[in-house]
Parts: sequence; structure tokens; C-alpha cells
Amino acid sequence: MEIKERDGLARIAKFETPHGTIETPTVLPVINPNIMDITPEEMKPLGLQGIITNSYIILRTPQLRERALKDGLHALIGYDGPIMTDSGTFQSYVYGSIEFNNREVVEFQKRIGSDISTILDVFTTPGTPRSQAEKAVIETYNRMLEVNDEDGIIAGPVQGGVYSDLRRRSAELMNSTRAMYHPIGGVVPLLETYDYSTLVDIIINSKINLSFNKPVHLFGGGHPMFFAFAVYLGVDLFDSASYVKYAKDDRLIYPDGTRDLARITELPQWSPLYGRYTLKELRDLEKEKRSIEIARHNLKAIFMEIAEIKERIYEEGLAQYVAQKARSHPSLLKAYWRMMSYSNILERYEDLSKKTAYFFYDSFSTKNPYVSRISKFTDQYLSSSRKDTYVFTGKAWNPGYTNTDFVRNVYQKIDCNALISWSGTFVPAELENTYPVEQTVSSGFEPDPDFSAVKDIISPFRVDVYKGEKFEGDQIRNFNLNKIRVIADYQFGMGTGKMIFRDDVKINVSKTGRIRGILSRDGRLIATLRNDGFFTLTYYGGYLLHSSLKPPRLRVVVSNESAEYNAKGYSVFFKFIKDTDETIIAKNDVLVVDEDGNLAAVGKAMVSGRELREYGEGIAVRVHEGRDQSEK
Ligand code: GUN
Repeated sequence: MEIKERDGLARIAKFETPHGTIETPTVLPVINPNIMDITPEEMKPLGLQGIITNSYIILRTPQLRERALKDGLHALIGYDGPIMTDSGTFQSYVYGSIEFNNREVVEFQKRIGSDISTILDVFTTPGTPRSQAEKAVIETYNRMLEVNDEDGIIAGPVQGGVYSDLRRRSAELMNSTRAMYHPIGGVVPLLETYDYSTLVDIIINSKINLSFNKPVHLFGGGHPMFFAFAVYLGVDLFDSASYVKYAKDDRLIYPDGTRDLARITELPQWSPLYGRYTLKELRDLEKEKRSIEIARHNLKAIFMEIAEIKERIYEEGLAQYVAQKARSHPSLLKAYWRMMSYSNILERYEDLSKKTAYFFYDSFSTKNPYVSRISKFTDQYLSSSRKDTYVFTGKAWNPGYTNTDFVRNVYQKIDCNALISWSGTFVPAELENTYPVEQTVSSGFEPDPDFSAVKDIISPFRVDVYKGEKFEGDQIRNFNLNKIRVIADYQFGMGTGKMIFRDDVKINVSKTGRIRGILSRDGRLIATLRNDGFFTLTYYGGYLLHSSLKPPRLRVVVSNESAEYNAKGYSVFFKFIKDTDETIIAKNDVLVVDEDGNLAAVGKAMVSGRELREYGEGIAVRVHEGRDQSEK
């Protein structure tokens, strides 16, 4: 897979198949080879990337089977793009069994020229008892082992019912096979009953235990209501039969729900039917024709939502879109709350900062992955700095370099901690300009601050709300120096601030007092502070970090050959990475070292540590400065 753009676990990626590239996220419409009222050709202008059809239907229907074997699947369907085939698993589940075995079904898919074939996995429903679900996981794995490399791209579904540990096990097992593509199976009944919160558990436990280098598909997830959630959790593809199924019941799909044709008063303007039919004309169409027309409308709704999600990924604002979509149905809100309970996991894949502002809506926002990340840091910060603490609540802290009164009258005169209440938690005041603290746009509905956790950490020292006190006396410390050190501690790990910024550094500030660059005493640039409140390191800054981090961290180890290029300033490609620190945060600065651990360059990781390890194509680290370019 080649990653074009990412936003947390969500990604816009390219996946090669024999009949062309699929750009994800996308939906593969289900084509029934017996009924092709809307052809794939007609769907192309919607942004169609590929389709899915059922090889079992073709196999058991003599005319279709003969034509597919003679002319190939693509001729049968009349489509020259990527075609995925399913195996009959769902039919096997509905009817008890089918008349072919796994090998026969896979062999047939290969013979007719499927681009992505699916094994005959064993479907487990949410109601399946644990012991049976476990057997299905093992049997599905064994069936995956029956395929070989000549079978082409094989989809190895993850099963395991509602049991998180079985989903994990199934994902790990399938990951160890030659499967190049991973659907998450057995979820159709959950989608039908709007049980999106259980689906969240299933997706996370599957996704996190699969290779990031393979596409993940949600089998049967064809309604756009949940797309944004699934993509946010790392799902790349969906298939949809719902556009036809709903149409047969005179139901129109909208990005946030479904409406009965009988109960609407107008067609939406985005509908391809708008302007072509009045509602009365549409309702009066004969049943078959009407279903086809509604299916066209439904397809449009589905692809429109995919386009919106892609736009949000480009903007790095998918999390906000999910927060918004969560309000479109109570079961989605429930799923959103469940999702937030995984913030400590999601946080690992979130970027250091985003292009978009951070929106604080309500109590749900207090569970956000960014809150989880920064709260963890605040706890570390307080544990290593146990002393009297002032807390700025509400608007008491006027964020930014403008808050000189506090700095002059308090911070620099006494040795205290200063915390700002933010998003229902507390952050060190030194992070006032660091994403997402300064970049927050808030509704003002933050809960009242609860000091108990802070008290517990700093006890026996005191926590007080700052009420404008002033202190006499001399300046005993420097806010800006502490600020750059705390930012470094947050960005590169506790204790690094003191390592890279010695007491005698020179801090350049703008006319408005904003910190810009930090130089060593002899005038060498160590780092510049960006608008998102994080540092960009120079090679020299990286050198200081590299020589003081013990044990080594923040490293991307590349082949010696690559290191020579990186030292000249060229980017690091995934394929040259030998090893990496898994805790690296996407978009953070990293140390590019050769196989002997020598620092070759400093650059920005395009993805998280886990992804650095697993992706194979494209640019992994954009080098800011290489050894050969630096004065050092
Ligand atoms: N279609 C819907 N769910 C499933 C599933 O779990 N496995 C397969 N193969 N197809 C499906």
C-alpha cells in the first residue's frame, strides 16, 4: 500500500490489483451478476474504484459459470477495473452449508481472473457462543493455509464474534498468512441492529492486530452513517449491497440515515433524481423501475459520503467530522463514547499536531486521544516537579506570550508549578502555545476542574486557584527557558529539555514576544519553534538529543547506503528502514541513524513508529537537515 495522506488511523492510500489501482477509502458496490440494472460503467463517474461480486453465485449458475470460465470475470461483468469476489461464506451461513469446499471456491476465483479472491471463511454471528466462535477462528485460519501464492491476492477475513481476544487472535493468525487483504467479517447482524458500539470494539481489536501495510475491509458495512467512524478507526474499504436492498423497500439513503419514499416531501437537491422526477412521478413508477432509480440515488449518497471523508482526511479534520456524525443517531453517540474509551490506543496513531483547530464540544471531548496524551504528560510533569501549584481556571490565563503580568509578578519570582485548566484536565502553562492547547476552539462547556488528581500527585504541597496575587522580590527563574524545556519534554520525552537547552542558550523572540529560535551560546541554531508550538530541530539540535538519549529513542535506523543520502538532505524511504522506535509519534522530529547508530540526519516522521516499521512504499521521513549540510 502506498499512503498518500493520513489522519490518525485514517488514510488515503493506493492499493495495486491486476486490473488497476484502488484508492481508499472507498466502497465496492455489490454487483449481482444475474441482475445488472446499474452497470459498473455507469457508476464510474461517482468515483468508482472497484466492485465486488459473489463468485459462489457464478459458480452455481451454469450459464454464468461457463461464460466466466470462457471469457473471464471482467468480460462477464463488463468492467475492466478491479473486481473483488466473495466466496459464498454468507450463503453458507444463511443456508447452513454450500456444495463447494474452500479449495474449490478459491480455485474457481483464480480461474475466472478475480483481482481479490476470498477464502471460504467461517461466519460467526454476534450471538455465537465463545467456544464455537473460537473454532470458527481456527477453521478460518486453516482454510487460509490451504491457499498458495499462485492464487493471487487473497482476502483473509478476521472472525471471532464479539469476543475482543478472539478478534485479536484471529487478526494475528491471519496476519501470519499470505493474505494480502483483510476483511473484518461476521458484522452484518450488528450493522442491521445499529449496534455500532460493539462494532467499534471489533474494528479496533482487529485493526490494531493486523499489519498496517494491508487494506482492511468492513464486510457488509454499506450504510454511510458509519463510514466516518470506521475510516477513523482504520478501515479502508466497504462493500455495499444496501444501495439495492434499501431501494427494493423504497428507502432512500442519506449520509446520516434513511428515509421512506412515502414519507418525504422533497427529493434532496444532491440526488441524481432531483429535477428528473417529481416525487409523485417517482412514486408512480412501476416497482422495478422505481427500485433502480432509488438505487441510483442511494449510490450517490454512499459515494458522496466517501468524498466528504476524503476531504476531511486531507484537512486532518476527520475526528471532528466523527464528533459531528456521532450526533446523527443515539447509537452512533454510544459508539462514539465507546471509541473514546480507546483513546490511549488511538493516541499512538494521532499526529503531533494537525492543520485544523482542535474543537472542544462537550464532555465527550474530554475523552479525546489528545486529552489522553497530554494528561499523561501532565502527570509525569507533576511527578517530577512536586511543589506548590497554581491553577488558572476559565479565562484567568490569557493564553500566550501576552500574559506577561503573571510571568513577571508570579512565575519568575517564586518556584511554583503553573497549570492551565484545559478540556476538563490540566496542562502545564509552559505548553500554552503547543497544539492543541492554544489551537482549541471551545464551546465553553468544559466541566468544573477537579483538583483531586493533581493534589494526589503533588501532596503535601498545595494546589490553589490563582486569584491575581503578586509577589515582591527578585526574579529567580526565566519563564521562556522553562517553556522551551517543557515543550521539549512533551515533544521528545521527559528530561530532554535540559539536555538540549542548557542554561546559557539564547532565545530569540518576535516583536510580540513569541519564541522563534533557540541558539547555543556560541551561536549555533538548535531548534525553531513552529506555529503549532512544537520544535523543528536542526542537525545540531538532533545531535544534542542523540548524544544524550539513553537508552536510545526517537530513532529511525536506516541502511548505511540510505544514511549517506539522508546525510545530504534526501528523504528516508520506507524500504530502507531497518528498525525504528515504535513510540514515535507521526509528524514528530526523529533521529535518522545508520546501522552503527551514527546520526545521519534529522527529519519529520510522516507516520507513527508502528507504521514506519510496516509500510513499504513512499517517503517515511522528510529530512530537515543532514550531517553533510550542517556546520557541526
Ligand atoms: N459478507 C458479509 N459478511 C461476511 C463474512 O463474514 N465473510 C464473507 N466471506 N463475506 C461476508
